Amino acid sequence: MLRRVLLKQASTCRHFLSNGAATSISLPLHRSHSSYSSSSHSESPNATFAEHLENQNAQSTTTISVDRSGLYNPSEHSHEPTSESELIKHLKGIIKFRGGPITVAEYMEEVLTNPKAGFYINRDVFGAEGDFITSPEVSQMFGEMVGVWAMCLWEQMGQPKEVNLVELGPGRGTLMADLLRGVSKFKGFTESLHIHMVECSPVLQKLQHGNLKCVEEHTTCEGVERRNISTLAGTPISWHAELEQVPPGSPVIIIAHEFYDALPVHQFQRASRGWCEKMVDISEDSTFRFVLSPQPTPATLYLMKRCKWAATEEEIEKLNHIEVCPKAMDLTHTIAKRISSDGGGALIIDYGLNGVVSDSLQAIRKHKFVDILDNPGSADLSAYVDFAAIRHSAEEASEDVSVHGPITQSHLLGSLGINFRVEALLQNCTDEQAESLRTGYWRLVGEGEAPFWEGPDEQVPIGMGTRYLAMAIVKKKQGVPVPFQ
Ligand SMILES: C[S@@+](CC[C@H](N)C(=O)[O-])C[C@H]1O[C@@H](n2cnc3c(N)ncnc32)[C@H](O)[C@@H]1O
Repeated sequence: MLRRVLLKQASTCRHFLSNGAATSISLPLHRSHSSYSSSSHSESPNATFAEHLENQNAQSTTTISVDRSGLYNPSEHSHEPTSESELIKHLKGIIKFRGGPITVAEYMEEVLTNPKAGFYINRDVFGAEGDFITSPEVSQMFGEMVGVWAMCLWEQMGQPKEVNLVELGPGRGTLMADLLRGVSKFKGFTESLHIHMVECSPVLQKLQHGNLKCVEEHTTCEGVERRNISTLAGTPISWHAELEQVPPGSPVIIIAHEFYDALPVHQFQRASRGWCEKMVDISEDSTFRFVLSPQPTPATLYLMKRCKWAATEEEIEKLNHIEVCPKAMDLTHTIAKRISSDGGGALIIDYGLNGVVSDSLQAIRKHKFVDILDNPGSADLSAYVDFAAIRHSAEEASEDVSVHGPITQSHLLGSLGINFRVEALLQNCTDEQAESLRTGYWRLVGEGEAPFWEGPDEQVPIGMGTRYLAMAIVKKKQGVPVPFQ
């Protein structure tokens, strides 16, 4: 059933807001220059205040030094502005308590997923009223095509009787709802499914519950816990905070659409003394600013690892900034291990590069770029996904998995049959729905501005078909997944 009216125009899509093509390492132009001057400031030879900290995240206790030159040092009679949000106070509290700046990754993680005040935690951030729009919200065809992919994989797996269908970061639950509606006639498939939604936001979990038309299972057995059932295809459904909580033992089909880009990245900048990690500190006027670490930080280990994976020496030599995402590497490890032990596969769709990512972190509020450090918690933060690092992490985790792609979203959706689907939907719809379908289709698979557009220039649909990339990780013995052959 056609039900979507497009929400907003090109400027509302997170990926549209970057000005680089998918193959380019050039960067969005949203960053304020003041950020860089702060970082450069910390490179001055006077920036030598250092304190030894214990890194609780590292496996062994590591001693690191941090640049404290820009530490906020409140005068006795200073008064904090009362309008500061809980999250800003919390971030400043961490920096003060530590006695030094925090990494960009720590900042990003707190801003997005702090359990009390993170960007995703307490509200619906999607659509025209929110901050950005994603592909499943653009057209029902997106979720339907992912459903085709999942069913093809299930066929390749030999049609197992029990499958854990996992979605990482399901947003409003729109992709899963469209997927289930699309496959609902294929009883063999739907009856094998148990759906697992990995979602950190209680508000979004509730929204997903509603959009998937969930009800509690009827049971006459006493003492048996009642399961949630999505009435869209009669499938049991559970929610989890992390992938590790999804019970093992059955093959998995894992979908990650725009999940990896929300994982926290560490940023490094080349300085005269070598690669320095970019950190977030408090300046004298009590605002946040970037500084550079004077010494190697624990995340430098991940930088070194990433550099070893570089395709050529020039790939690193030409860069002055590098982003690394340890959480993406660890998540990929977990995915690959799970696929290796239980069988199945994962489909990762996101914007990014098939190589080292330079400096892509961006902040978007109400469909506009804003400064990363401005009013944290009120804007989305996201970074390009390093697909090459995902490949290496999966291959490192297990010899039983194979990694395919990345291919463009246009290639993925085209091969899965989106052209036939749009034609079928156009057969039976109103004029308004037809326009919505055409623009939605263009946004998903087109490249650049839609040539057929006759409306206002500022609303021209812009295709994301080549900016978004898709990668699959599967159990090797199942063969090459559709359409990565
Ligand atoms: C950019 S949104 C993408 C939503 C959806 N996949 C879509 O395409 O519309 C990121 C999603 O991941 C969730 N999320 C972000 N970080 C998470 C984490 N560390 N653990 C679990 N969920 C997370 C957010 O709450 C949100 O649902």
